[in-house]
Amino acid sequence: MKVLTPELLNKIGNTPLIELRSFSSNRVRILAKLEWFNPFGSVKDRAAYWMFKDAEGKGLIARGKHVIIEPTSGNTGIALTGIARLLGYEVEIVIPEKASEETKNILRSLGANLYETSDDLCPRVGVGTDQSISLAKAIARARPDKYYMPNQYENDANFLAHYEGTGPEIWMQTNGMVTHFVAGVGTGGTITGVGLYLKERSKAIRVIAVQPQRQHLIQGLRNFEESNVPALFERRAGVVDEWYTITNEESFKMVKELYERERLLVGPSSGCVMAAACKVKDRLESVAEDGDGRGEKIIVVVFADNGRKFRSLYAQQGVFSDEEFDDALRNAVMLGESFF
Ligand SMILES: Cc1ncc(COP(=O)(O)O)c(C=O)c1O
Repeated sequence: MKVLTPELLNKIGNTPLIELRSFSSNRVRILAKLEWFNPFGSVKDRAAYWMFKDAEGKGLIARGKHVIIEPTSGNTGIALTGIARLLGYEVEIVIPEKASEETKNILRSLGANLYETSDDLCPRVGVGTDQSISLAKAIARARPDKYYMPNQYENDANFLAHYEGTGPEIWMQTNGMVTHFVAGVGTGGTITGVGLYLKERSKAIRVIAVQPQRQHLIQGLRNFEESNVPALFERRAGVVDEWYTITNEESFKMVKELYERERLLVGPSSGCVMAAACKVKDRLESVAEDGDGRGEKIIVVVFADNGRKFRSLYAQQGVFSDEEFDDALRNAVMLGESFF
């Protein structure tokens, strides 16, 4: 493991945007924003850092005094814990049991205390991450002098991280040529922050949200038919033009395809989002063939994390055997250098 140094905070954001050439055509290009280049390995470094800056700026937390508690299926926890260690805070994370063992081990090794929620815990509040939310809220409410819950599901700093960071980066990296933005929805911070920023630059840009099927296995994303819609998303839900729902099977098939065609080892949510982007591309090409498609289309997708944490899930789902996974770790390109 590398050493935690304060300079890591300066490395949040400004992630690469690369073209997925084997998926692009001369009419429609697909570009991916590789968010695992953030120091703690995912898109969530942005939201976590913005939420810390916001809370410190408002005097809501003090170093050495407050404990940060947050419900998360993994990436926000990893980002909050890493950043908290750098800034001098302790962290407690409430995480659904079904999050990957690798994720839980990373959290423990970064020094977080974990509470795991199962489907039997707090059954009244719904399924999946909703149980973690109520447990974290209950703990924070009991000791307001000690605990601070950033609450990524309601905190506008999460939206602002993307409105002020990811969105402008995508606009600049495409020289304002982006025509479609495709992202998964967990809290809704990414899709609303980037979506709103891009639409303010150009009204014609289409914003496409992706959700996994009900009872999905896609860590970090939510299916809104089975779990609560976060307030953060609801506030700006109008920015979304279209929704795609992607199955577990489609997501995992695309994880494998991205490795075989592009040598990228991505996390499950990237497979899910990419499966939707390919459907958007197919549709755009059929319109172009009908003669009413004008000009080159540029689809930008967000790849939230890489595949490193998902060895056990990929083995269990038949995506990569242990041996194939080791090969992929050796041969993948652009795997980045996140902290763990
Ligand atoms: C792997 C992964 N993909 C996508 C997302 C969705 O991001 P957001 O919470 O900004 O909607 C998350 C968020 O936790 C995530 O962990």
